[in-house]
Amino acid sequence: MKFNFDHEPELASVQLLEKDIEIQIDKERVSDELKKLATFSDAELPAVTRILYTPKDIEARAYLISLFEEAGLSVRVDAIGNIFARWEGENPELPAIATGSHFDALPLAGQYDGTVGILGALEAIRSLKKTGYTPKRSIEILAFTSEEPTRFKLGCVGSRMLEGSLDPKTACELTDDDGLDFDTIRKNAGFSGDLSSVKLKPGHYSYFLELHTEQGPILEEEGTDVGIVTSIAAPSTIHITLEGDGGHAGAVLMPERNDTACAGAEITLLIESLTSELGGEDTVATVGIFNNGPGAVNSIPRNTFLAVDIRDVYADRRDAILETLETRVAEICERRGVRGKCTLINKDYPAQCSDELIDKLEEQANEMGITSKRMISRAYHDCLFMAHIVPSAMLFVPCYKGYSHRPEEYASPDQIEKGVRVIAGTLRDLSKD
Ligand code: GLV
Ligand code: MN
Ligand code: MN
Repeated sequence: MKFNFDHEPELASVQLLEKDIEIQIDKERVSDELKKLATFSDAELPAVTRILYTPKDIEARAYLISLFEEAGLSVRVDAIGNIFARWEGENPELPAIATGSHFDALPLAGQYDGTVGILGALEAIRSLKKTGYTPKRSIEILAFTSEEPTRFKLGCVGSRMLEGSLDPKTACELTDDDGLDFDTIRKNAGFSGDLSSVKLKPGHYSYFLELHTEQGPILEEEGTDVGIVTSIAAPSTIHITLEGDGGHAGAVLMPERNDTACAGAEITLLIESLTSELGGEDTVATVGIFNNGPGAVNSIPRNTFLAVDIRDVYADRRDAILETLETRVAEICERRGVRGKCTLINKDYPAQCSDELIDKLEEQANEMGITSKRMISRAYHDCLFMAHIVPSAMLFVPCYKGYSHRPEEYASPDQIEKGVRVIAGTLRDLSKD
C-alpha cells in the first residue's frame, strides 16, 4: 500500500479540531457570574431567596438573557418563562442537545443550587466556541421556570409543563399563599402566551444533561471530582389538614381537647417510623411545613396544616408508605376527635438516566483525568421530568459539607470547573454528528 504523505498533516489537524483541542474553562468568570446572579435576591447575602415571578426573579431572568445574548446565543422564552438559549448547529433541523437547570431559590437558600447548571452550561458553550468548534447539532441551554415548590407548593413547574404531566388546566388551578392563581400571576409577570404551547413535541431534543451540585457530602468526603447520576428519586407530596374545636388554654381540661397540634405531632412521628419500617436506605420523609392556628400561646390549636414530602428511587416502596399513611392518619384523627383530610398533591415517577449518556460522561471524565463515581440523586431535579421524554443524565460536583438549601451552600471554582469541563466535552461529543 502506498501512503500519500502529503495528506498526513491535514488529517492530523482535522483530528485535532474534532477532539484534542483542550477545553479551557474560565472559572473566575463563572464564579463572578454566580456571585452576580446571587444579588438578585430578597434575602441578604450570603442567603438567597428568589421566588417565581417576583421582581427579583424577573431581574435574574434579564441578567441571564443578557449573558446568553452576549455569548451569541439566540434566546426564546415560552409562555411560562422557561428560557431557551440556542447555539445553532450546522444542521439546525436535527433535534438539539439540551442542557441546563433552574435559577429560583427557596427562602434563605444558597447561591449554587441550580445556578451552577445554567452558568456552567453557558461557560461550556463559550469554552467550545473558543476552541473553534462548530456543532452539527444545535446546543440549547434551558433555564427552567421554578424548580422549587415554594410559590405553588409544587416543584418543577417549568419542566413538568415541558414534559406534559402538568397540563394547562391543572396549572391554572395552582394558587399561591395569597390565593392568587398561577395564570394571573404569570400574566402579571409578563408571560402571556398560550399555555398549551409549552409542552414539548416528542423528539424535540436528542439528549438532556443537567449539571448540579451534589447537595450531599459523598463526593467531598471521598475526594471524588464528579458524580454521574444513574437514577433520580421521585417525590410525593401530601397535604394534611386537621381541624379541631380549639378553646381556652387554661379553661379546657386535657380530656376535653381535640388539639390539632398534638395530632399533627403524632402524625409527624408516625411518618418517621413508617419510613424506617417500610422504606429502605434511600427512602426519606420530611414534614417540611407544620403550621398551627390560630397561633396564640393561650389558645388551643384548632387548625393544623402539614406538608409532607416522601421520596424514593423505588416508586412501589414509597407508595406502600403513602397507602399506609392515609389509614393510620384516619385512626389518629378518630382517636383524638380531630377532623382530618389527606390530599395527594403529586406522586412522581423516579427516573433512570440514559446508559449511553452515563457511559459518555464517564468516558469524558476518564479522558480528562477527572475522577468520577456513579451515584443516585436523592434530591429531585428538572432532569427527573426531562428524563421521561428524552435520554437524560446528570453530573454532580461536590459541595462544601454537602450543604444545600441553606446560605452556607458552596462549591469551589475548581470543583465547578471540572464539572463544566466534562459537560463541555460531552456536549462536543454529542453534537458532532
Ligand atoms: C429540590 O430542590 C428538591 O427538593 O429535591
Ligand atoms: Mn433545591
Ligand atoms: Mn436544584
